[in-house]
Amino acid sequence: TPWRATVLTLFPEMFPGPLGISLAGKALASGLWALDARDIRASATDKHRSVDDTPAGGGPGMVLRADVLAAAIDAVDAQDRPRLVMSPRGRPLTQARVAELAAGPGPLIVCGRFEGVDQRVIDARGLEEVSIGDYVLSGGEIAAMTLIDACVRLLPGVMGKLASGTDESFSDGLLEYPQYTRPQVFEDRQIPDVLTSGDHAKVAKWRLAEAEALTAARRPDLWAARPKAPESGRKRKP
Ligand code: ADE
Repeated sequence: TPWRATVLTLFPEMFPGPLGISLAGKALASGLWALDARDIRASATDKHRSVDDTPAGGGPGMVLRADVLAAAIDAVDAQDRPRLVMSPRGRPLTQARVAELAAGPGPLIVCGRFEGVDQRVIDARGLEEVSIGDYVLSGGEIAAMTLIDACVRLLPGVMGKLASGTDESFSDGLLEYPQYTRPQVFEDRQIPDVLTSGDHAKVAKWRLAEAEALTAARRPDLWAARPKAPESGRKRKP
């Protein structure tokens, strides 16, 4: 039974969307993972099939009802799977959490809409709130797709030759060094000589220096938190 993402959403027609093409799409078609997008509205009980209501205490927008969402969650066989809700209030998603999620059976993911979901269902079902960054999307669907895409590329067999998606940015705490390919000259700009020298040790040294300089300049947060111990054996891409 392959890795599975179960998504609870008011817009199941958004899926698979971009997850149905390219790397994730090919892996989906070949059965390396499964996607199960379910309509939260199918769990509505009143005659208007309502899923949301105005916030208690007042304020703008609408809140996803606890009873409807709990019923949708309970209709999924997700006993031993991580249960997430995408939200800008969540803990920021990291490559480390992505790797954990990819190593497990695959998550149940609730996509919030409107002003959010009733806090009681988050508490009562133990939902882990996850953010993909400090900006606000109109709903959790694109955030869920982002999380799923990040997991799927780590699944065995999905990336082929690049199978260890761990040998790159964020697993060693550095941003990627710059890449070049033909033509040798583009608008008077040369590929750096070291890369065409054939000296693999020099290439590796240059790439590490570039990655470190870029990380220090652009991401002081990553630079400060980088794994120390210079000879710890961590290696960049060959
Ligand atoms: N829903 C809306 N904005 C979001 C974000 N930044 N991360 C996760 N889910 C969201």
